[in-house]
Amino acid sequence: MTAPAGPPPPRAVVFDAYGTLFDIARPTARLAERIGPVADRLGALWRTLQLEYTWLLTLMGRYRPFDVVTADALQVAMAECGVGDAGLAADLLAVYDRLDAFADAAPGLAAIAEGGLPRVILSNGTPAMLAGAVSAAGLGGMIDDILSADQVRLYKPRAEVYQLAVDRLGLPADAIAFVSSNGWDIAGATAFGFRPIWLNRAGRPADRLGLPAPPEITTLDALSDLLLPDGR
Ligand code: LAC
Repeated sequence: MTAPAGPPPPRAVVFDAYGTLFDIARPTARLAERIGPVADRLGALWRTLQLEYTWLLTLMGRYRPFDVVTADALQVAMAECGVGDAGLAADLLAVYDRLDAFADAAPGLAAIAEGGLPRVILSNGTPAMLAGAVSAAGLGGMIDDILSADQVRLYKPRAEVYQLAVDRLGLPADAIAFVSSNGWDIAGATAFGFRPIWLNRAGRPADRLGLPAPPEITTLDALSDLLLPDGR
């Protein structure tokens, strides 16, 4: 007797960028001495405002590109934390433009590549930001395509953004695994119909939005075991 068939293995993997492949804590960590004791708070507030601005703009039916949103969020976060000057803001943004990948990104992507699944980035970042980040982090050879919310001038979790991956890959949403460290992004991907995998790097509790709980991993090294039939 054979085991009952589970869902077929996914046929492509789509990755969020910031916080998932690229370490967004780097700018404030690298310049922590210049920022002073509020460095961690500044980093967290910068990210929170950056995301809030994307959601607000999309809810208002407006659009500003992610590099502009990122710079504006930094200005407000610096003002709220009472730090900095134009030079510091420019230097933080310069580090943001050349973020390091997390140490597990290259091996995680390589294992998926060996298993023969296409690998695509789908991010709120502009095409220029994403191309720069991929190349600075040395991930170019492991990524088949880069899709940007800028193409539809809306931000995740709007369905139009996730649809970019369906259209590009020519696969139904439920044949696509979507990997993100961001709980809100995983909620959006689940609602859209992707097969979500929450890369819960920070060990956070799951969000409560009335959606099924996604499979969770804590590092990208665990991805191939989850996605490839023979765990290659
Ligand atoms: C991304 C961010 C917002 O879309 O995590 O890459």
